[in-house]
Amino acid sequence: MDKNGTLLSVQNLYLYYKTRKGLVQAVDDVNMELKRGETLAVVGESGCGKSSLARAIIRLLPRNVGKYSGKIILDNVDTMKLNEEEFRKQVRWKRISMVFQGAQNSLNPVLKVGYQIAEVLMLHLNMSKSRALEEAKKYLRFVGIHEAFVDRYPFELSGGMKQRVMIAMSLITNPDIIILDEPTSALDVITQANIMNLLKKLKKERNFSYIFITHDMALASELADKVAIMYAGEIVEIAPSEVFYSEPMHPYAKGLIGSVPTLRSEKELKSIPGSPPSLFNPPKGCRFHPRCPHADDRCSEKNPPTIELKDGHLVKCWLYVR
Ligand SMILES: Nc1ncnc2c1ncn2[C@@H]1O[C@H](COP(=O)(O)OP(=O)(O)OP(=O)(O)O)[C@@H](O)[C@H]1O
Ligand code: SF4
Ligand SMILES: [Mg+2]
Repeated sequence: MDKNGTLLSVQNLYLYYKTRKGLVQAVDDVNMELKRGETLAVVGESGCGKSSLARAIIRLLPRNVGKYSGKIILDNVDTMKLNEEEFRKQVRWKRISMVFQGAQNSLNPVLKVGYQIAEVLMLHLNMSKSRALEEAKKYLRFVGIHEAFVDRYPFELSGGMKQRVMIAMSLITNPDIIILDEPTSALDVITQANIMNLLKKLKKERNFSYIFITHDMALASELADKVAIMYAGEIVEIAPSEVFYSEPMHPYAKGLIGSVPTLRSEKELKSIPGSPPSLFNPPKGCRFHPRCPHADDRCSEKNPPTIELKDGHLVKCWLYVR
């Protein structure tokens, strides 16, 4: 950790994919920081690059990478400078773990749940099978599942329980940072609320740092200390939650907040007109300009810089450039 308490610092991160149609600019010059014990919610519409950002941080990339560069500094070490073996031994799962989008469907149907959890320890920490199975029981209890389930198969578990198992797997190596990619999106609302409560409890008890990825602005507000809004491969606004939810500044972020229903408000819900751009050939200038009610000539010509408005409140929009 550096003197400001920063645990992770992502700087000028790019991840492009090569395809027959050209390069997909999924993560384009992303910058963000995470402190110990802090939860950063990354919010944005489908296809804006949230999962790509997560995969870039934990370096689990598809074969068709076209560009992968930048700095990912974890405790003062630039993990981008580590080779694959060093990264696997020192960082992935040990320091940074991840619950993948739709992960509850990725449990192996023919292996007992306890073994699948234990396997993480056997593989990554060279733990013996018997000790790893004891740990698996402990972590099942920890995520609110009776330890007897260590001997059950995935088909005997509900969707919510499977997701708890995935969370147990991500915690068991005691990482500093856990990336949660849409951890509740496939679940019904009650199960979703239970999982959110579990994440809050774990955060309080264990001081984990989370990167919580969601398309759901309201859900993000439940857990986030800090919110990052992603649009078309870029982060367009980052702010502490209380600042962001009371005063979002980027026109896209304002649009997202305006489309969230609230119980007490009589205000008419507004949707953002248009749809997100293709990442093959994103619009020139500000990528949001074809949908933005405030766009002017400058917006369609030049990509706006990121401006710090107040401590920790950053926005990428020409409206704030003096
Ligand atoms: N391996 C790949 N090759 C080419 N394009 C890809 C690849 N993986 C993702 N993409 C594209 O990159 C863009 C960003 O995808 P990504 O999955 O990161 O978005 P997302 O924000 O996680 O979306 P969702 O909310 O639907 O999960 C999309 O246009 C997607 O189609
Ligand atoms: S830079 Fe221009 S187009 Fe982009 S969000 Fe700001 S005002 Fe809208
Ligand atoms: Mg995704």
